[in-house]
Amino acid sequence: MTSIDGIDGIDIGFIGGGNMAQAIIGGLLGAGVPAARLLVAEPEADRHRQLLALGRELRLAATNADVAATADVLVLAIKPQVMPGVLGELRGQQRPARQLVVSIAAGIPIATITAALGTDTAVVRVMPNQPALVGTGMSVLVASPAVDARQQALALALAATTGRALWVDDETLMDAVTAVSGSGPAYFYLLMELMEEAAADLGLPAGIARTLVRQTALGAARSALDESRDVAELRRSVTSPGGTTAAALAVMEQAGLRDTLRRALLAARDRSIELGRPVG
Ligand SMILES: NC(=O)c1ccc[n+]([C@@H]2O[C@H](COP(=O)([O-])OP(=O)(O)OC[C@H]3O[C@@H](n4cnc5c(N)ncnc54)[C@H](OP(=O)(O)O)[C@@H]3O)[C@@H](O)[C@H]2O)c1
Repeated sequence: MTSIDGIDGIDIGFIGGGNMAQAIIGGLLGAGVPAARLLVAEPEADRHRQLLALGRELRLAATNADVAATADVLVLAIKPQVMPGVLGELRGQQRPARQLVVSIAAGIPIATITAALGTDTAVVRVMPNQPALVGTGMSVLVASPAVDARQQALALALAATTGRALWVDDETLMDAVTAVSGSGPAYFYLLMELMEEAAADLGLPAGIARTLVRQTALGAARSALDESRDVAELRRSVTSPGGTTAAALAVMEQAGLRDTLRRALLAARDRSIELGRPVG
């Protein structure tokens, strides 16, 4: 028995066995899903070794069609640019009647998948983010109308193996999601990078600066996990009037950080819309 409801006896197939697929597979195995229930089509021999290191009983398929023909849940874990070719391969292929297709490819709309696999295909589109690779990801899911409650629960459980997961019911929101949690880790990395540089300018040895910045980021993130408290309240709680934090924040406000971030997220959202437009 696994700790995931409804997953016992289910075969989960992956097309693409790269970083994200391996993160999900690691999570499934960690939740007690037997490796023999997992089938992966992956062209790269190096990746085969990595996959088998996750679970020796995991099955490697010779072709994408082999995976699609039997999987109850079919995870498309390929790069977006590879998706048209893979969908072309799967078009018209015999697949299990109530197969759930889960796509984690950034920017590929559900309609692109149902156009190839049939409009009545149960498709869940997932937008994960990079910290999924360390089990602290944020995944946002949206379902096609054909997805039933049991499949919704399965998709959510699958995404939650790499961190937190939640649903939106309007696919157009995925562009905003991409701007916030999809691209978001990079914003925090930039902030940490700049803080490390500034710390070095203040004379701190690089090794110490790294540790101070990263542990402080972790502590702030962990404090902010309590969503009953506003982050503004947290900020105020470390900002004494006339103190050091207030001096730093005043410089950031004067430099227009608020407006810069608002414009940055808008640019990411707009770029996501642009990339999601059908070619031609
Ligand atoms: N990594 C992230 O931080 C992140 C965040 C959000 C969303 N995503 C999405 O997650 C998806 C997977 O990303 P990833 O980082 O896991 O990429 P990845 O590590 O490159 O994994 C994709 C795997 O698919 C294989 N592949 C290529 N063509 C194939 C085909 N025709 N049939 C079967 N397998 C094929 C690739 O093999 P080769 O190496 O031989 O090409 C590679 O091993 C992407 O669509 C990405 O948009 C990733």
